[in-house]
Order: sequence, then structure tokens, then C-alpha cells
Amino acid sequence: MVREVISLRDIGPRTDETLRDPEAKQRHIDACLEQSVEYVKTTGLERYHFVNEALPELSLGELDLSASIAGRALRAPLMIAPMTGGTARGQAINRRLAAVAERYGLAMGVGSQRVALESPERAEYFRVRDVAPGVPLFANLGAGQLARGYGPAEARRAISMIGADALFVHFNAVQEAVQGGDCDFRGVARRLTAICRDLAADGIPVYAREVCFGMSEATALRLVDCGVAGIDCCGAGGTSWAKVEAWCARTDRSREIGLSFGEWGIPTSESIANVRHAAPELPLVASGGLCSGIDLAKAIALGADIGAMARPFLIAAHAGEEAVVRLVENVLEELRICMFATGSGTVRELRGKLRRDGVGASDTRGQSP
Ligand SMILES: Cc1cc2nc3c(=O)[nH]c(=O)nc-3n(C[C@H](O)[C@H](O)[C@H](O)COP(=O)(O)O)c2cc1C
Repeated sequence: MVREVISLRDIGPRTDETLRDPEAKQRHIDACLEQSVEYVKTTGLERYHFVNEALPELSLGELDLSASIAGRALRAPLMIAPMTGGTARGQAINRRLAAVAERYGLAMGVGSQRVALESPERAEYFRVRDVAPGVPLFANLGAGQLARGYGPAEARRAISMIGADALFVHFNAVQEAVQGGDCDFRGVARRLTAICRDLAADGIPVYAREVCFGMSEATALRLVDCGVAGIDCCGAGGTSWAKVEAWCARTDRSREIGLSFGEWGIPTSESIANVRHAAPELPLVASGGLCSGIDLAKAIALGADIGAMARPFLIAAHAGEEAVVRLVENVLEELRICMFATGSGTVRELRGKLRRDGVGASDTRGQSP
């Protein structure tokens, strides 16, 4: 395993160099580390509980946590969600996270690569492959950039820039609107279709993802029509990107508008169910407010193939590599215990082991984790 030592100073207070970095992404990281950017609204996962299996014919130490995403094998059904890159500070965070992803066989995405497509000298700051040679790695572009004319050529540049296995196209209409960013999404579906078709010819999967506002069944069906190979249905209940933009706003007016939309979005539990109902076989990543292995297990039981976390990993990476390791080990141990105590020898066997509170309570009373 290739590892490197990153000092706390690399991702601590800003240095002179990072002060020159693209300011918006720096402010996003600071807001996510220092401010109250979480939804008050919950993921809805707390309304579900597992049916306890008092007699599991299993050994806790021999459960099969393996999963797959984008045609690549994972040792556990967990992804480090896309966040950053393109700056010295972002690179240090990514490399610390990537080293842990490699160690535990997880998947990972980098943050939007727009900055490096527009300023190629920043491509170096997205490099993680040397510390994570075996990690299923997702490149990242925004739907807003597709509306501005990005197509297959830019998608291929983003992928080759980091040696990615797949591409995420992130959808963030509310975030763009409250920050006054790319707000003309006309033609995005047509361009997404062109990218999916072009990359599919070389076996490169394109996944669509929300950033926190969730997906309806109708949206999922339209994305399937575009040819996406998978979806990350990221829902409400964790980091609110309207609140992040409110904290980063430069004017009172945009701060107020950001806060007005702070609770906008479909909760993660509903978003998972929506996409799974619309596309029963489509590879599905669940994210948005997952904080523990119990959340992860519930997301999988509701229909996701794997789960992803963003801000919990950012906070851990800021604290140090040991904190990232502790987070991953806790999440995986909690997942293992959920599997053990529901008689699920494989991750897939978690499906159908959940009850919604108040539904079927007679056989499950008192089992809520
Ligand atoms: C600092 C930070 C930067 C982010 N930047 C991106 C990005 O560039 N592209 C993207 O698709 N998602 C981005 N996200 C969104 C996350 O991947 C995720 O969808 C969202 O934060 C909700 O997950 P959480 O509740 O686990 O934080 C970012 C998240 C954080 C915390």
C-alpha cells in the first residue's frame, strides 16, 4: 500500500498559497468545518428500525461486506463522497482520504474539476491515484457546466486527469440559484445523454448525483432515459448546500435567500425509495446525512447498493488521518453488527429487514437501534 504523511498544517488554517486558491471552494470548506450547515429536517432513516434476529446462524467476524460500484469491487459498501481538489488544501484533504479509502477498499469521488478544466495548472491538485491505486475513483463535473457547453471532450479530460473509473455529473439547481451561479439548465439532459453515450462506448460509467436536495421518481426515470449507469440520490438531512451558500454569501440578500431554502429537499430515505422504485436494477448510491454504520445499513436495506458520506469525512480529515481511520472502522463495525443482528450474511441480505415505525410493530416492538 502506498501511503504518505500529510501534516495537520496541510489542511489546517489557510496558508499564503491557499489564500490565492479559488475562493469559493475554500469558503465552502471553512463553512462546512466551522458553521451550522446541517438541515433541521432529518433523513427519515430514524423512522425505520431493523427486525432483531435473536438467533443468527452467523459469525460476526466472518460476514461478507463486499459490494461493487461502477463495475469495480469494494471491500465494504462505503464511498467517500466528492468534496474537493484543485487547491493545495483540497489536495491534502483528498490525499488523506484517498489513502484510507485504499487501505479499507472503499470508493471515492473528487470534487468538481471545473477549476482544473479552466485552469489546467490546477490539475495537479486533483491527483490521488498514486496514493489510491486500487480505489474505484469518480471524476466530477456539474450540470451547470453541461448547460454552458461541456460535453464528451470535457468529460474525458476530467476522467483522464485523475485516472478515474467513472464520472459523476452533479445536479445542484437550488445551490446554483441561491448563489447566483449557473442558472440556465436548458439542454442539460441532451448533453448528459451525449456524454453517457460517448463514454459508454469505452465502458466508462456516468452516474448522476444530487448534492443534497434528493430525487423524485420522475427525475430518476428521466436520468435513466439519458443513459446514466447509476445514480447517487443524495437527499436532505445532512449538509444543506443552501445553508452553506448562505454562510458564504457576500450580500445580505443572497444570505437571506440561502436561508429561505435551507430546508429545501427530499429526505434521504424517501430519495432512496424513489430511485429504487423508478429503477429497480440501477446501481444506487445513497448519501445525504449518513453518519453511522446503522444509517448505512438502513440505506442499503431500503434499496441502495452502497452509501456515501461527505461532511463527516471532511471533519475527520481535518482532525487527522487517525480520525478518518476511526470513522471508517466505527462505521464498518456498526454495519457488521446490523448484519449480524439481522441474520444477514451479506450486505445484500439486509434488504427487507427494516420496518417503518408504526408498521408491523407487533413483531418488532422495542428493537429500534
Ligand atoms: C466541502 C464540501 C464540498 C463539496 N463539493 C462537492 C463537489 O464539488 N461536487 C459534488 O458532487 N458534491 C460536492 N459536495 C457534496 C457532497 O458530496 C454531498 O453530496 C453533500 O455534502 C451531502 O452529504 P453529507 O450530508 O454527508 O455532507 C461537497 C461537500 C462538502 C462537504
